[in-house]
Amino acid sequence: MPQSASEGENATETATTAPEPRMIRIFDTTLRDGEQSPGASMNLAEKLEVAQVLAELGVDIIEAGFPIASPGDFESVKQIAQTVRGSTICGLARCSDKDIDAAWEAVKYAPQARIHVFLATSAIHREFKLRMTPDEIVERAVAGVRRAAKYCDDIEFSPEDGCRTEHDFLCRVVEAAVDAGATTINVPDTVGYTTPNEIFERFTMLRERVPNMDKAVLSTHCHNDLGMAVANSLSAVAAGAGQIECTINGIGERAGNAGLEEVVMALKTRRDFYHCDTRIVTKRLVPTSRLVSKTTGLQVQRNKAIVGRNAFAHESGIHQDGMLKERSTYEIMLPEEVGFAKTDLVLGKHSGRAALADRAKTLGFTLTSEQLQSVFEQFKTLADKKKEIYDGDIIALVQNQISGG
Ligand code: KIV
Ligand code: ZN
Repeated sequence: MPQSASEGENATETATTAPEPRMIRIFDTTLRDGEQSPGASMNLAEKLEVAQVLAELGVDIIEAGFPIASPGDFESVKQIAQTVRGSTICGLARCSDKDIDAAWEAVKYAPQARIHVFLATSAIHREFKLRMTPDEIVERAVAGVRRAAKYCDDIEFSPEDGCRTEHDFLCRVVEAAVDAGATTINVPDTVGYTTPNEIFERFTMLRERVPNMDKAVLSTHCHNDLGMAVANSLSAVAAGAGQIECTINGIGERAGNAGLEEVVMALKTRRDFYHCDTRIVTKRLVPTSRLVSKTTGLQVQRNKAIVGRNAFAHESGIHQDGMLKERSTYEIMLPEEVGFAKTDLVLGKHSGRAALADRAKTLGFTLTSEQLQSVFEQFKTLADKKKEIYDGDIIALVQNQISGG
């Protein structure tokens, strides 16, 4: 892998002229792949609310559902297409006429509509699931893309299990799909099997070997079975992908999909490395995460990157002291950037005097160094008994000290 995302293309040029940042499209599939998380189904009103919030977040493409899957899915995609503005609205379809027709009937109300057709291409899927020959796969993929392209000019094609498909066959299918009218080629890591180095090579290979690859946007869609969905998505971007498919809080089939908040903040925080921008209004990440969590009932773990409750919380005395002197010592992003009100210096048994004095001051108490020392000792005794010390505890300790108790 290159040392910087643009180094693979032309290292000499990068050294002399700073390239314009590339705009990466964010394709959110919370309402489709995300909803496939066991126990995460949403009703129509909930889907409309989430879609509206995704549009306000600045998502480029909202995959609103799989219209053929059920009448409820059809209706929600249709109503999202009728009401949500500012994002392209996309519907998923297998490469079959009835799927594609249903997808179009649902998305056609959107000012910018996309049909996303998919067909598995890996040997395992061809042999055991589809029982089709390679020639039949190419034929069906082409027919699906052509049918979708009769309806609109924004067509995405996904060779399902593309990251486990033989290179030669993947190139053949992708070339045929682009020739048939696909404007986005999404190569999914359907089972979360690939690695950052491998996906980098695969995407580089596609860009080098598929003659018409420049006529379509290359897209990445990574599942998280080995915990590498975000890293893999970023590697695909480094290899030239122009679209990332992801979900809020990383929800999705099995271990989920790449988390939107993580890929977006990685691109933003490491813009020096990736030289990419997105349209995401990052201040809305935390409120959007909370809405999706509340709606699906899937809780966000405390230590989840970017949106977890602990993502900007510091407990250790050394870290808190550093933070109070200069926040960049232990913070690589500002909590305000992602929608948290502020950094949280949590008071617990690992905290030091500096954080205690700071909290006492915020609560309206200025302590002499003797008072601080005494309160600090009592605070440590209390902290050994409690997981977290709250403001009420500090007020009680300080008032007791001041009143000479
Ligand atoms: O993971 C996958 O392969 C998918 C496709 C339908 C894009 O979700
Ligand atoms: Zn998927």
